[in-house]
Amino acid sequence: MEQRSKWGTNLGFLLAAIGSAVGLGNIWRFPYVAYENGGGAFLIPYFVALLTAGIPILMLEFALGHHREASAPKAFRHIDPKWEWLGWWAVLFVLFGISMYYIVIIGWCGNYMLFSLTNAWGDDPNAFFFTKFLQVPFDQAEQAPAGDQVWSLAGFRWPIAIAVSLIWLVNWAIAYGGVEKGIERAVKVMMPILFLITVTIIAWALTLEGAGKGIRHYVTPDFDKITDLKVWIAAYGQIFFSLSLGFGIMIAYSSYLSRNANIFKNSLIVGFSNSFYEVCAGFGVFSILGYMATRQNCDINEVVSDGIGLAFVAYPKAISILPGGRAFGFLFFLLLIIAGISSTISIIEAFTAAVLDKFSLSRKKVITTICVLGFLGSLLFTTNVGLLWLDIVDHFLNQYGLITVGIVEALVVGWLYRTDLLKAHIVANLGLSGTRHKLFNYVVLQLWMYCIRFVTPVALGIAIVHSLIREFATPYAGYPISGVIVLGVGWLLVTHIFAFGLSGLPWREQAEG
Ligand code: PHE
Repeated sequence: MEQRSKWGTNLGFLLAAIGSAVGLGNIWRFPYVAYENGGGAFLIPYFVALLTAGIPILMLEFALGHHREASAPKAFRHIDPKWEWLGWWAVLFVLFGISMYYIVIIGWCGNYMLFSLTNAWGDDPNAFFFTKFLQVPFDQAEQAPAGDQVWSLAGFRWPIAIAVSLIWLVNWAIAYGGVEKGIERAVKVMMPILFLITVTIIAWALTLEGAGKGIRHYVTPDFDKITDLKVWIAAYGQIFFSLSLGFGIMIAYSSYLSRNANIFKNSLIVGFSNSFYEVCAGFGVFSILGYMATRQNCDINEVVSDGIGLAFVAYPKAISILPGGRAFGFLFFLLLIIAGISSTISIIEAFTAAVLDKFSLSRKKVITTICVLGFLGSLLFTTNVGLLWLDIVDHFLNQYGLITVGIVEALVVGWLYRTDLLKAHIVANLGLSGTRHKLFNYVVLQLWMYCIRFVTPVALGIAIVHSLIREFATPYAGYPISGVIVLGVGWLLVTHIFAFGLSGLPWREQAEG
């Protein structure tokens, strides 16, 4: 039997966990979500969500994985064999779902990194992106992709498929090396580069004309929004996705820590670093948007856009007019690629850990199989209708998959598990004594428990009910109902079936416990 992997150092673990958390969600999602939900005022629900759900669930996942030295399925099995499926389901739909299309987006970034060098999009980046690059069915009147043509398959987009194969290859090469010699080594190179590029881009952006105007839009608080339920749901949703919670990742990563690791401190470092990164990224993004609005003499509202629109339409426009724009574009897309890969690698590891905990298999074979299957799955999203499929699958896995795992995880651990054991485990390595020990045990950890038992399930429960009500009122984003059912609901169901199947298989003997 292979020895269970270990991180070389706590720093290696921190870099890997922060690498998992910091991804496309921080760079292109957060700034827009913040802007749309009240700007500076959004920071209030956002930090409430971080403190009442983000860090508590992160600490729960770290403590669970570390305490039991187990990946998600094994950790949940320890609580009660009935719950093993939950662990499998999380790692399954994240690997064979979220990461499959997430890597396709990284593949677009690869193409755009090269396009930046020649401004290949000419003077209409919108038309270029949708009709030339993706070749997705396009609604000329709306100037947007035609959602009703979700089944008009016309073939692969080879430049995307090639980029995707390279990115899976890089992921495979890193994961193949193992936890310490593969992932830890890679993040020790990737994270400093990520940091340097981020600082360079933000510093550059802040000096642009109009940067102040953009930043004012980003941070000006709109306090009226705070009473809007949607804003709170957006805050909890952002925290969850951004911190990679409910993915089974943080459980696996902490299971490789040394026995005397400090779970409490590690949770705070990872939780705050991730938020610090995204709040800062917002300054960079909005400085650029301010510059564009100033140059084009228009309002910020006309240049701002979210996710895909921001990276592949708004930014290319900026790259064309910025002094030194080509270098800027190259660096920006490189940044997205690095941030993306340090996230996808973490889910490959979470799945591998789950398989190796349960079955007697060779790590290298498992990694190779996962990467080949994942690559084949990614190809589904590299056709001309890939964008539409990706959009539907993303909506369902995020709104329902991750949130369900979050709720059940909080309830199962909060109510069924001997939480005193987990609490004792967190306290054990803090080296506290006397009053400080008492204070920590009876105040800090007690609050933590309340968050897990009440705040998280209630907050996420409201979010999911709210999404469901909207779902039944109108099919998601105007897609035909067949697309929504097959791709959205189907994906959730099929991964569920596999999760039950895997949890039904027998454990190798040594793993029982
Ligand atoms: N936390 C990542 C982000 O913010 C999300 C992610 C993690 C996606 C792991 C895929 C795999 O982008």
